[in-house]
Amino acid sequence: MTTTAPAPGCPVDESFDPLLPEFLADPFAVMAKAEAPVFFAPSIGYYVLTRYQDIEEVFRDPVTYSAAAAQAPLVPLAPEAQQILLAGGHKPQPSMASLDEPAHARLRKPAARAFSMKRVTAMIPTIEATAAQLLDAVSTEPEFDLVAALAFPLPANIVFSLMGVPEQDYAQLKEWCGYRAALSWGRPAPEDQVEIATSMAAYRRYMRNLVGLKIRTPGDDLASDLIAIHDEAPDRLTLDEIASILFSLSFAGHETTTGLITNTVRRLLEEPARWNEVAAQPGLIPQAVEETLRYDPSVAVWRRVTTRPVTLAGVNLPEGARLYLWLAAAGRDQAAFAEPDRFDLHRPDAERHLAFGKGQHFCLGANFGRLEAQIAVAELARRYPRLRLAPDQEFTFHPNISFRGPQILKVDGGPPGPPR
Ligand code: HEM
Repeated sequence: MTTTAPAPGCPVDESFDPLLPEFLADPFAVMAKAEAPVFFAPSIGYYVLTRYQDIEEVFRDPVTYSAAAAQAPLVPLAPEAQQILLAGGHKPQPSMASLDEPAHARLRKPAARAFSMKRVTAMIPTIEATAAQLLDAVSTEPEFDLVAALAFPLPANIVFSLMGVPEQDYAQLKEWCGYRAALSWGRPAPEDQVEIATSMAAYRRYMRNLVGLKIRTPGDDLASDLIAIHDEAPDRLTLDEIASILFSLSFAGHETTTGLITNTVRRLLEEPARWNEVAAQPGLIPQAVEETLRYDPSVAVWRRVTTRPVTLAGVNLPEGARLYLWLAAAGRDQAAFAEPDRFDLHRPDAERHLAFGKGQHFCLGANFGRLEAQIAVAELARRYPRLRLAPDQEFTFHPNISFRGPQILKVDGGPPGPPR
């Protein structure tokens, strides 16, 4: 059961609505006015947490703070949509990110084993080649959209290829991932929910069929590695669980990294001296990515729900209180970071950010996502040391609470200059 009324004594902010166009355009302006460490937002029925320390405490105590809310739809779904989802195997806690122990560990352990450092490292040449190929395709255009050219296709193609998805299915999966973001993190209208639910059922069916395909024709890919783990002890990892892990990775390894690449390039270009510095010293790129994760994280919010009454930041929360962990605000908390509103390429402790969560659910693909973003920015900086933002553009953002990055980022290769 979840509670939707504010706890006595808890501040309430009637105006806070993370899906309003003004909020999506500039959440940092709203954040600057949010003074309470925790407040209740009636628009979504969540308690919003704004402080690093409290958010960290929540992540560190999975018994009191269940992950069950992590992917729950923000709005109640129409019965017909719910029915289609359940029949399609998409349960209310649809995958690893929203399961608590011991169900979580059953999926997380084999997934972590298959998502090994060896497999990630082996992908480096493919990531580099794909980034180069994608940028070759726009090399004759003076101005191009970085999202369409690189930030969207790169992580999607890489994670699908890592998993072993046949290339002809990439476009379909990308479309389903968009529906999935709307279902769990947006506010789909009742008339759209049935279509979304039908797509979700097809997406889950696809993953089960992919497992079947890999059993018949194994490849050098993560799906086949998971099947090998299943073969060792079929009770410990069922074929349905493999399909669930693949469902997790196909989404988690995609939108998140698109946003990370786009946000990093945006933040570097909005101050040309930053881009110049990074282009002249590519060794700074990992630091630029880390500072972006602190300053403008691509997963701006994550969620939990209390399993018992608990006092947090001085507020007595009831059992079933849904928590909106504002990761973007944690990165701007001055108790955690000096001058937090300043983007600083040389910040010594940026990597303390909470952009990948913490504890048992800590992002499984953190190093992989970092690597992809670093390679993408490095290839861009090598080709375009004078890259700049195309003038007069207003950024738009997907209407969801968690995944954040401009939908379009127009860049201009800059005036011709000597190659570095
Ligand atoms: C690069 C940007 C990324 C960001 C900002 C990000 C962020 C996050 C966050 C905030 C969580 C929840 C952590 C928690 O509850 O403590 C998470 C979980 C997860 N991430 Fe990422 N992620 C990124 C990339 C990736 C990639 C590339 C993959 C895989 C290919 C991935 C796979 C996962 C999985 C499977 C989980 C669930 C882990 C669990 O429940 O045990 N992520 N991520």
